Amino acid sequence: MIILGVESTAHTFGIGIAKKENGKIEIIANCKDSYTTEKGGIVPVEAAKHHAAVKGKVLQDALDKSGIRLGEIDAIAFSHGPGLAPCLLEGLKFTKELALKLSRKIVPVNHCIAHLEIGKLTGCKNPVLLYASGANTQIISYAGGKYRIFGETLDIGIGNFIDSFARHCGIGFPGGPKISELAKHGKYVELPYSIKGMDVAFSGLLTNLEQKYDRGIKIEDLAFSLQETAFAMVIEAAERALAHLNKDELLLGGGVACNSRLQEMARIMCNERNAEFFCPPNEFLVDNAGMIAYLGLKMFEAKCSIEPEKANINPAERTDDVAVKWG
Ligand code: ATP
Ligand code: FE2
Repeated sequence: MIILGVESTAHTFGIGIAKKENGKIEIIANCKDSYTTEKGGIVPVEAAKHHAAVKGKVLQDALDKSGIRLGEIDAIAFSHGPGLAPCLLEGLKFTKELALKLSRKIVPVNHCIAHLEIGKLTGCKNPVLLYASGANTQIISYAGGKYRIFGETLDIGIGNFIDSFARHCGIGFPGGPKISELAKHGKYVELPYSIKGMDVAFSGLLTNLEQKYDRGIKIEDLAFSLQETAFAMVIEAAERALAHLNKDELLLGGGVACNSRLQEMARIMCNERNAEFFCPPNEFLVDNAGMIAYLGLKMFEAKCSIEPEKANINPAERTDDVAVKWG
């Protein structure tokens, strides 16, 4: 079985291909092209134009990489939400056109759940996911037939928080990798720590950091302290979820999970409580279509596909809106 996946929820347009052979799923292509800006954040309509401009090339890349022909594809999965409506619509249009052309069904995939499911390629079975991306910061785990959110940000996502601070300091977008470099040469300055139960908040921390930057405190010190504080908050929430749910696997997901300091803190926490730590390679942490194809394949097998005419976007779909019918 071969499933093609389409990702277009935000800045990234991706095409992934998943293949199941002898009971084993493999990602045989994971291609993408991302919209970036030097100044300012993501403009949804501009990102959508980017997706329209690159889609043909990304599809061709994926076909070349995997060595398969379009006719061999059994169904097309796409991220139908959550995400930015103009970007999602571009993905929907692409998916529908291809599905109609090939006379194939469509599998609508929830982007956040795909971030968790792809982690299973690393061997975990029933993890708590710390999903740390640009727009999302959530602690997700399976309970009672659904993936449920046990904790989340009360305001902005951790990646957007880091990127906003980077933008304030004029170091471009995305800021995550740059802040991580600067942090290697910094020392600790005190910052507010904001966790309420299982939830976290970053906007107060952002304002505090911006004020300190404007007062002339070294950016290296602020980058270091930002990471120590924000990561400690999400790791604390994840640890509580492990304890409450009585689970012993922690999985990282989302672009911010590429950060080696976050990975290190997660590993230490897991060691301390005898839990196992899982982290997919970076290409499956950031937004990617490999994860959409992967979950799409599982959902297709579980008969979760629909006729192309019925496909639509769901920009505000929540993780616990989805009934999990696949195994
Ligand atoms: P979602 O739609 O799932 O919320 P997203 O569209 O924001 O995700 P992701 O690719 O999952 O996209 O995450 C982007 C974030 O990851 C950005 O905030 C970026 O700064 C951060 N990031 C990417 N690479 C790295 C890295 N190597 N180190 C630290 N942060 C990183
Ligand atoms: Fe994502």
